[in-house]
Amino acid sequence: MDKSKLPRHIAIIMDGNGRWARNRQLPRLEGHRRGSEVVEGIAETCRDLGIENLTLYAFSQENWSRPTDEVAGLMELLKYFLVEKRPKLIKNEIRLRVIGQIDRLPESVLRELTKTIYETRHCEKMTLTLALSYSSRSELTEVVNLMVRSALAEGNASRVVREDELDRMLYTEGLPEPDLLIRTSGEHRISNFLLWQMAYTELYFTETLWPDFGRAELEKAIEEYQRRERRFGLTTDQVRAIL
Ligand code: FPP
Repeated sequence: MDKSKLPRHIAIIMDGNGRWARNRQLPRLEGHRRGSEVVEGIAETCRDLGIENLTLYAFSQENWSRPTDEVAGLMELLKYFLVEKRPKLIKNEIRLRVIGQIDRLPESVLRELTKTIYETRHCEKMTLTLALSYSSRSELTEVVNLMVRSALAEGNASRVVREDELDRMLYTEGLPEPDLLIRTSGEHRISNFLLWQMAYTELYFTETLWPDFGRAELEKAIEEYQRRERRFGLTTDQVRAIL
């Protein structure tokens, strides 16, 4: 692995917990529990490698429609993670951040989330962002509504919005765009995750189910990323002239 060419930001769609559990005749929640243990290891590995940002799709807005006991179980796991891993996050200097419609989260989860975010606010080795109750389309729709309202309030019907203005109004404000997206479990979809932010992100798909995803697999994804040529719409010659 070339340490000088590390992605600054890795985003992960952690998929396959349910199938992992079914393959072992275990309840789905057991898959999620194993999946949440993997989160800790992957976050620490990223931090050790020098990745500055890791964003995990932990719960989508669509996930609210899953069976009630699965949603409740996931919320409990999340709360457990936020309380239990708080000292480790601080020790490892990992700052927690969240993106999504968090006002929909149960109050007890929101409380622990706020506490962990507050207590890790000065940590500088890595930012771990959890996407919770997240939907990229609703994120963009919220921004559009805010813009319409502010143009109306200003009485400025000819207001033109620039891309950078919109970008700064997203939940991800201040985060670099993801360089690499990993999706586990053999699904080849983006599923309403960071649609605007991933315009030039390199996509990496693996058959491995999330509970089986480990350091070796992460390193493989980074190595594959390093072999890709990122052109951002330019030609190879143009890109080489810039570098
Ligand atoms: C997708 O697997 C995974 C989820 C919907 C939830 C992801 C949650 C975790 C990894 C655990 C909680 C997270 C933290 C940060 C503590 P799936 O259920 O869709 O799997 P399937 O497609 O095989 O059914």
